[in-house]
Amino acid sequence: MAFNLTSKLTQRFLPPLLLLVFTISLAEANTILKETRLVLYFQDFTAGPNISNIAVAGIAGKEWSFTQFGTIYVTDDAMTQGPKLTSPVVGRAQGIKVASALNGRNTLVLVSLVFTNLKYNGSTLELQGNSKNFEPVREVAVVAGTGKFRFARGYATFETFFLDPATSYAVIRCNVTVQHYHL
Ligand SMILES: *[C@@H]1O[C@H](CO)[C@@H](O)[C@H](O)[C@H]1NC(C)=O
Ligand SMILES: *[C@@H]1O[C@H](CO)[C@@H](O)[C@H](O)[C@H]1NC(C)=O
Ligand SMILES: *[C@@H]1O[C@H](CO)[C@@H](O)[C@H](O)[C@H]1NC(C)=O
Repeated sequence: MAFNLTSKLTQRFLPPLLLLVFTISLAEANTILKETRLVLYFQDFTAGPNISNIAVAGIAGKEWSFTQFGTIYVTDDAMTQGPKLTSPVVGRAQGIKVASALNGRNTLVLVSLVFTNLKYNGSTLELQGNSKNFEPVREVAVVAGTGKFRFARGYATFETFFLDPATSYAVIRCNVTVQHYHL
């Protein structure tokens, strides 16, 4: 009896169920993930009139530096299309970096890429991860995004492209690979 009732229910509700599944897959088809790769350059000054990366807190009595555990930096680097300081600006890399390893070898990076160029104006990407200070290529995660990058996830690499210790000026190349909905 119970079995019969179930199979009747199945017969009755199966077509709407199928329709629901079909509708869901159509909705998914409309929001297919798209992959975007970007190559960006951060114009990074740790001293001088255009300072854009500054230690704001650290352990009392210790030198505040990127290799001293507990040091916190705030950054707002211009993000350019090419490596040159005069290259067109596409946005700003704004966030905080924390010397998070007791042995001074790793940094926790929390940076928003805030785009102002024509293509991505108003959109952002959120970078988060553990950056290995002494590796030529440091990799962090892209954990989220807004605007054209809604639901973004992926990864980003940092490479020191140019460094002039005399002027405390560095150019960091940031390659981003993200998957996001096609908006
Ligand atoms: C600081 O920025 C100004 C304006 O962009 C620029 O003219 C100047 O050359 C920069 N100074 C240094 C030391 O890079
Ligand atoms: C980006 O958006 C802002 C605010 O809507 C606008 O003022 C600015 O002109 C836009 N920039 C570009 C390059 O479209
Ligand atoms: C970043 O992109 C540039 C330009 O495509 C490429 O030459 C470089 O090898 C890339 N770096 C990494 C770590 O993938």
